[in-house]
Amino acid sequence: MRVGVLTGGGDCPGLNAVIRAIVRKGEGTYGHSVIGFRHGWRGVLEDETVELDVGSTRGLLPRGGTILGTSRTNPAKVEHGIERALDTLRSERIGALIVIGGEDTLGVALQLEGHGVNVIGVPKTIDNDLSATDYTFGFDTAVQVATDAIDRLHTTAESHDRVMVVEVMGRHAGWIATHAGLAGGADVILVPEVPFDIAEVCEHIRRRHKHGARFSIVVVAEGAIPKEGSMETQSGEVDAFGHVRLGGISNRVQEEIEQRTGFETRVTILGHVLRGGTPTAFDRVLATRFGVEAIDAAHENDFGKMVALRGTEILRVPLEDALHELKTVDARLLDVASVFFG
Ligand code: F6P
Repeated sequence: MRVGVLTGGGDCPGLNAVIRAIVRKGEGTYGHSVIGFRHGWRGVLEDETVELDVGSTRGLLPRGGTILGTSRTNPAKVEHGIERALDTLRSERIGALIVIGGEDTLGVALQLEGHGVNVIGVPKTIDNDLSATDYTFGFDTAVQVATDAIDRLHTTAESHDRVMVVEVMGRHAGWIATHAGLAGGADVILVPEVPFDIAEVCEHIRRRHKHGARFSIVVVAEGAIPKEGSMETQSGEVDAFGHVRLGGISNRVQEEIEQRTGFETRVTILGHVLRGGTPTAFDRVLATRFGVEAIDAAHENDFGKMVALRGTEILRVPLEDALHELKTVDARLLDVASVFFG
């Protein structure tokens, strides 16, 4: 069988480990040929492919990014995009298509499944907000990078008696902010799940400093939103899936804190640093297990499924289960984090 593979949406450490595992078991154990589509759905629209084999995927395990390239191209937004994608898959004689992506990329896979394409999904989001899986690869790496940064910011914050605002990724869910904030000992964590009141944040910092603290660390998810009417924000450009480009809420938070409290405040936006570089051991293992399960599903003609982690087990779940609801941070975890505020 000819198995197609693509990576779509934002990149994540661990994508190459998934590709490597698919090829290693697909070719090595089952004797399938694996064809990579370049730059996500764009490669399917434009029939841009690359042959993948055991030799060409050697050494990929620790490598960040994706050797296939990625894009946010949405075939449904391109004229005759779905027909063009179907044409390519037919002409390339693709018997199974393994789609590694988040809700947008997997949403297109689901549409194509409706047109008879044999799809299998592999969940990918640095934000860890896909339903139906407990964790996605890349998330652990992002949390580790953010935690290292917070540790480093602590020493400079305490030397200068400053408030440090650290912005991390997290569009709709504050998983990275909450985990890194907990691991790094943040004094305030702002997440999209709970709109914040800047006056309360400032009051909290003032109280903390009154009780002897000389510095504070505020971790902000990029998608954190102020309570209505409490603080002005800016909006940005929109991509092919209708998402606004985020990044920058922390600048507003920094200005407000400095103005309202009088404490010297600095901001660090970690942004894409969190998605770059080598995956942690946890992410390499998770990505490898996902890749092996995905090629097993293809080999067994078990289509329309997404591989997922539940507890310690890798399972296959209906693809649509991953897409109907966003996995936001559990209120109980936020409660745990709040114990350490102040
Ligand atoms: O959706 C995952 C994500 O990493 C978000 O956290 C972030 O807002 C976005 O991607 C960044 O996208 P881009 O790489 O297109 O700037």
